Amino acid sequence: MTNDWAIVTGASRGIGQALAARFRQEGWGVLNLARQPSHVPGVVDLSVDLGSGDWEPRVEAALRDAVGQAKGRVSLVHNAAIYDHDDALTLTAAQLRRVLEVNVVAPAVLNRLTRPYLGDGSSILYVGSTLSEKAVRGNASYVTSKHALVGLMRSTCQDLAGTRIHTACVCPGFTDTEMLREHLGDDAARTATIAAKSTFGRLITPEEIAHVLYFCATTPTVNGAVLHANLGQVET
Ligand SMILES: NC(=O)c1ccc[n+]([C@@H]2O[C@H](COP(=O)([O-])OP(=O)(O)OC[C@H]3O[C@@H](n4cnc5c(N)ncnc54)[C@H](OP(=O)(O)O)[C@@H]3O)[C@@H](O)[C@H]2O)c1
Repeated sequence: MTNDWAIVTGASRGIGQALAARFRQEGWGVLNLARQPSHVPGVVDLSVDLGSGDWEPRVEAALRDAVGQAKGRVSLVHNAAIYDHDDALTLTAAQLRRVLEVNVVAPAVLNRLTRPYLGDGSSILYVGSTLSEKAVRGNASYVTSKHALVGLMRSTCQDLAGTRIHTACVCPGFTDTEMLREHLGDDAARTATIAAKSTFGRLITPEEIAHVLYFCATTPTVNGAVLHANLGQVET
């Protein structure tokens, strides 16, 4: 039986999939909560739409089956997110609720469902963004949700005081995933402009962010921290 387990939302592609692969490589069991399967060998998939609002009983059962008997650490990683284009002056309630449901409400609910399985050395990790601590034009719901995640992480730290369970928020910069490619389209010039915004002049790989997240999962000293993993951003 696998002793350590990771529950990763959105492990079907991008950063979440790279993280699932890293956990597997390190000998952890992995439960992927996403609409699509992860394609990483050995990962247990539960097809779930975190925006649907009706997934709690199924996830509760899957958690019991997968990690109920786990004897080691459990790491819950809130990675799944929706990235919409909208703005703070025209945003509708429905648009905002759609994004908050997946990006903020689902993590809070998953914390409650997973809490019984979190023992010494376990962790709750949040995937934020550079936009957890600053804003750009045209991403109001996403920016709002990513700021909220930092608040949820800091509350998590305080509410877990004395438990030996730790938490952190890792904030990726521009990472080469479907989310970023959808945002940039097939525009090579735009991609080059974005890459030039890092002091290293390139995009981050999903594996690099997975490495930081794995470090956080296995390092209790990093507790209550917001970690920017962005290769250094060029400020203009
Ligand atoms: N890429 C970047 O440049 C960048 C920068 C900063 C922060 N981030 C953050 O990094 C995290 C991962 O992003 P990524 O770039 O890897 O994105 P991605 O390639 O678009 O992957 C997003 C993941 O979220 C899952 N997801 C989305 N909606 C869902 C829903 N309703 N229910 C369940 N799962 C859902 C998707 O799974 P299914 O479609 O299978 O459901 C997918 O696995 C996100 O929190 C994002 O905000 C990314």
